[in-house]
Amino acid sequence: MDEKSFKVLVVDDNMENIRLIGNMLRESTNYTVGYAMNGKQAIELMLEAGDYDIVLLDVMMPEMNGYETCKAMRKNEILKETPVIFLTAFKDPGQILAGFDAGAQDYVSKPFNSQELLSRVKTHLELKKTRDDLKIFNANLEKIINEKTRELTQTKEVTIECMASIAEYRDLETGLHIRRTQNYIKLLALHLKDHPKFKNYLTNEAVDLIYQSAPLHDIGKVAISDSILLKPGKLTEEESTIMKKHAFLGSEAIAKSEKRLTSNSFLRFAKEIAISHHEKWDGTGYPYGLKGEEIPISGRLMAIADVYDALTSKRPYKPAISHEKTVQIVMEGKGTHFDPDVVDAFLELEAEFKKISVVMDDDANNLKSEIRA
Ligand SMILES: [Fe+2]
Repeated sequence: MDEKSFKVLVVDDNMENIRLIGNMLRESTNYTVGYAMNGKQAIELMLEAGDYDIVLLDVMMPEMNGYETCKAMRKNEILKETPVIFLTAFKDPGQILAGFDAGAQDYVSKPFNSQELLSRVKTHLELKKTRDDLKIFNANLEKIINEKTRELTQTKEVTIECMASIAEYRDLETGLHIRRTQNYIKLLALHLKDHPKFKNYLTNEAVDLIYQSAPLHDIGKVAISDSILLKPGKLTEEESTIMKKHAFLGSEAIAKSEKRLTSNSFLRFAKEIAISHHEKWDGTGYPYGLKGEEIPISGRLMAIADVYDALTSKRPYKPAISHEKTVQIVMEGKGTHFDPDVVDAFLELEAEFKKISVVMDDDANNLKSEIRA
């Protein structure tokens, strides 16, 4: 904004004063000068024009005095930041202070010295310009940051989706197992996010990332041979040992990608879920036999989501178990297989679990279950 575009409003009930100030400003600057004879008129004019940069405000005026005008401006969304310089004949510091209290930026004593008035007007216009420029700069910066954040979020989502799709191709169990468990874990996470034991961990961002990362929980199965992965019957002990390696292999694969990211990367939850979803609350799970709260929360959530889905789904080597029976089994696992608090959450959400299992049922969606959990 150059000097020409500044607009100054002079408010005084004395036309002679208005003329004097107007002439002085026009002679020394290229400012556009408007005027009003009282506060009420001034506010109406400013709202109508919408682009006054500064107001020179007399104090003693009819209708609405200077203090009242300034206070009204500060309460108005459009005028609240327009600088005000009081023109006052008062010498009493209390009355001058009242002007600042009303929201004025400065004051000039009457009779005023034209050079003083001019330089104060210039100073406040420059300050206003700096503030306005900063606002524009911040708004642009915010826009750029929002765009970059959106890009980054998309990149994260696409990365996870891409990795999950590899897991889906390899795991013929159907993508629906992956999608169902993803929805189950989200239900649990959202339900527990305000629970005193979980709220520090389950932030909004964490819940989002857990939901996005859940499809990677069995990505380690990519490294398990078909003869084991697709075997219809019971696994031998040796085969079972190999199968159990999927938890470790999955987390290792994710960790390799994660190495290139920051320590608090979005893959943290994916790695945690992959390594810990087969751990059990009493320490009898695998791969590390972690116990109780040693098991990451995301893994404790996935344990229930995964088992619920495995039990309620039909597999070549077993029929589907009813929702009711599955709820019973999960309840029996409270404090042994599962975190008791997560079981409590599950029990409160079991109707929601059932809904998801029905809507995303394999048979209903013409997909075959061909593999074990
Ligand atoms: Fe698994």
